[in-house]
Amino acid sequence: MSRNATLAPLPRHIAITMDGNGRWAAERGLARSAGHKAGLEPVRLCVRECARLGVEALTLFAFSSENWSRPAEEVASLMGLFLEAIDREVSDLDNRGVCLRVIGDRRVLSVRLQAQIAAAEQRTANNSGLKLQIAVSYGGRWDIVQAARTLATRCLSGELAVAAIDEDCFAAALELAGLADPDLLIRTGAERRISNFLLWNLAYTELYFCDCLWPEFDAREFAQALAFFAQRERRFGRTSAQQRGLSGPRGS
Ligand code: IPE
Ligand code: IPE
Ligand code: MG
Repeated sequence: MSRNATLAPLPRHIAITMDGNGRWAAERGLARSAGHKAGLEPVRLCVRECARLGVEALTLFAFSSENWSRPAEEVASLMGLFLEAIDREVSDLDNRGVCLRVIGDRRVLSVRLQAQIAAAEQRTANNSGLKLQIAVSYGGRWDIVQAARTLATRCLSGELAVAAIDEDCFAAALELAGLADPDLLIRTGAERRISNFLLWNLAYTELYFCDCLWPEFDAREFAQALAFFAQRERRFGRTSAQQRGLSGPRGS
């Protein structure tokens, strides 16, 4: 389906911090794990909506570097849920033409989960539809440090000159290499913070915070976030008058 003109301009890339699962569960007298489980439905909805509207990329924050500090039982239930979700959803994602990638420090995940992620990525690698990134064991600072290490290693081997390191070169070593920066960040759960998500890539992203808890995030909430985005004037450092005379960011 073509882009929905009433919602234009649409973000090309949406990032979402899916927060509030624990509070949603607590409000219902349920275990936190029930909240995480209930958070799967809005994930499906966002994938469907992005594909339908023609959004190019969707990056979901599922588990942060800092979330390893949670009680072992909660971490274990989240890891179990990731395994289950990949197993159950990969066919549907593949059928929808979604290209799935997991970003984050995967070496600290269980061997089984790493293998399942690799298989799902391989299966969907050639799909040309929505680019879906799931951030697991991801931290923005970790991402910047791993990029710095990669570039330092290439410099030491003589493959890369120090003087050749510029912003584009650095960005190409980050986990979201090859993707345009997110245009819109949505964070549910009533917190107004970044929580170490894509620190480099959010430099000029429009930030949308809503009070709804992630398991309650539905098509109406999603449409509200898009409506917020459609009203922003993205100036990228220029004046408003300059921006109105230009067709897009950095004259592109
Ligand atoms: C987000 O919901 C999911 C993860 C961080 C894994 P939370 O689990 O943070 O839910 P709240 O913020 O405690 O309600
Ligand atoms: C951010 O949520 C990480 C994810 C949604 C995966 P948190 O609930 O961990 O964030 P803080 O710690 O409250 O900022
Ligand atoms: Mg939280």
